Amino acid sequence: MQIRRLPEQLVNRIAAGEVVERPASAVKELVENAIDAGATRISIALSAGGVDRIEVTDDGIGMAPDQIALALERHATSKLPGDDLDEVATLGFRGEALPSIASVSRLRVESRVREADGWARTIDNGRLEGEGPAALPPGTRIVVDQLFARVPARRKFLRSERSEFAACVDVVKRLAMARPDSASLPQSSEHQPR
Ligand SMILES: Nc1ncnc2c1ncn2[C@@H]1O[C@H](COP(=O)(O)OP(=O)(O)OP(=O)(O)O)[C@@H](O)[C@H]1O
Ligand SMILES: [Mg+2]
Repeated sequence: MQIRRLPEQLVNRIAAGEVVERPASAVKELVENAIDAGATRISIALSAGGVDRIEVTDDGIGMAPDQIALALERHATSKLPGDDLDEVATLGFRGEALPSIASVSRLRVESRVREADGWARTIDNGRLEGEGPAALPPGTRIVVDQLFARVPARRKFLRSERSEFAACVDVVKRLAMARPDSASLPQSSEHQPR
């Protein structure tokens, strides 16, 4: 049998299997990113337990347009300025979370650094869908739509909307307890599981 190098999209999907198991794992990665970005307010909105939509908005440092593109590539991180793994002071450092989530959902990143215009980039199941200017306050907003819509093997293992919602809330509570200096606001009005 011939050994072959796998195409990037497939590699990302395989990696996604380890990073994103269910909506709560995506929520965890996104909120950790917001905390690492120095956010003081993080708002989280979920539809259908996070399966239809996860939205995480922060008031952190934001990203410039070229940085947004890099953030969506694998093994690209701002959190390891040197090559020393012992110096990690952030929650993330692998440069895996965003490309992994983007390979199993439709993921839109909107971001704006202070004193600059905002920019957005959308990846649909690993493929660039588009990018362009975006209007938002300084910070970052990530929208994850239809998680696992194209990964039936994963979707099959999701539990009820209510359980997925509860798992998301649990993750947010844990992160909030570890970081009482940032305010996390799960919005549940129209998002309560039916
Ligand atoms: N909310 C955010 N605000 C500002 N920058 C962000 C935000 N989310 C991601 N980034 C930038 O995008 C990069 C990639 O994010 P990603 O979560 O994929 O990797 P990571 O956080 O570096 O490592 P890990 O895979 O362990 O989470 C980050 O290193 C950071 O520079
Ligand atoms: Mg991260």
